[in-house]
Amino acid sequence: MIFANRYFPATRMRRMRKDAFSRRLMRENVLTANDLIYPVFVMEGSNQVVEVPSMPGAPRLTLDKLLPVAEEALELGIPMLSLFPVITEGKDNEAREAYNPDGLVPRVVRELKKRFPELGVMTDGALDPYTVHGQDGVIDASGYVLNDETTAILIKQALCHAEAGVDVFGPSDMMDGRIGAIREALEEEGYIHTKILAYSAKYSSGFYGPFRDALGSSGNLGKANKDNYQMDPANIDEAIQEVAQDLEEGADMVMIKPGMPYLDVIRRVKDTFRVPTFAYQVSGEYAMLKAAFQNGWLNEEKCMMESLLAFKRAGADGILTYFAMDAARLLRQR
Ligand code: PBG
Repeated sequence: MIFANRYFPATRMRRMRKDAFSRRLMRENVLTANDLIYPVFVMEGSNQVVEVPSMPGAPRLTLDKLLPVAEEALELGIPMLSLFPVITEGKDNEAREAYNPDGLVPRVVRELKKRFPELGVMTDGALDPYTVHGQDGVIDASGYVLNDETTAILIKQALCHAEAGVDVFGPSDMMDGRIGAIREALEEEGYIHTKILAYSAKYSSGFYGPFRDALGSSGNLGKANKDNYQMDPANIDEAIQEVAQDLEEGADMVMIKPGMPYLDVIRRVKDTFRVPTFAYQVSGEYAMLKAAFQNGWLNEEKCMMESLLAFKRAGADGILTYFAMDAARLLRQR
């Protein structure tokens, strides 16, 4: 007898871990395809798949190449795609292309909703793909992003996407008061079913680098940053205030972004508000993991699934992730 007291330890924690059936029985969190939102980069043209070096496996696609992807996403049980456009022509200071009814995004939305009506489609509410300077809004002479002027354009963008039939509009711009302004405009125009997923706590993060490569906006942005509208990574109470405001203004869902470095924020938001809460495992997180997978330094399947499960444990209802398709395929096999 190794233990001095024969009744110690009263509960051997490893007893339940020993067998697969008991591990399954006591499992607290489960990831399913229902939890996944797949972000995709769309570009003009046809028959093209352009890899982004910093985001292996998350290429830019022309609409015809996106269609089979959307079909597979639907088959795999992924509830929604999120569209991010690569805009090469028509960028200006006022992001006029952002609300062109014949622009890339509205065209893609129309086609997706026509072919796959049950597949949720979300668009990004922000002007950075459309501005020459790569900021998410219109700027003054000093480069400051003007809040209300930007919001006025976001309203036009939201109405343009709603008209095209988008299911969810996701403002990722971090302007003050934009959720209320967009909600009001949607209601007035009769788009009462268009949902809003507010990027409520969006941090001014270094982890967006590969995304800006994918969009081709990093060159436009240059050395400038987004600190005067995106949040300071040091703050968490401020995130609570942002979420509270967005909910009061009519957000149906809220988001924390980036994901893995901000799991504490997800937990605080979920515990505080108990509303549909989403997380964005952003491009830099994906790039980091992919690089390690490609080097053989981390096991791809295990670490991908572990990273996604972490979001569920933190309280997220769903995850925007570039791994969505791979994860859903794996979940199907299990
Ligand atoms: C732009 C936008 C960004 C992301 C989503 N929408 C980048 C930024 O704010 O510069 C980042 C997504 C990612 O890194 O995967 N409003």
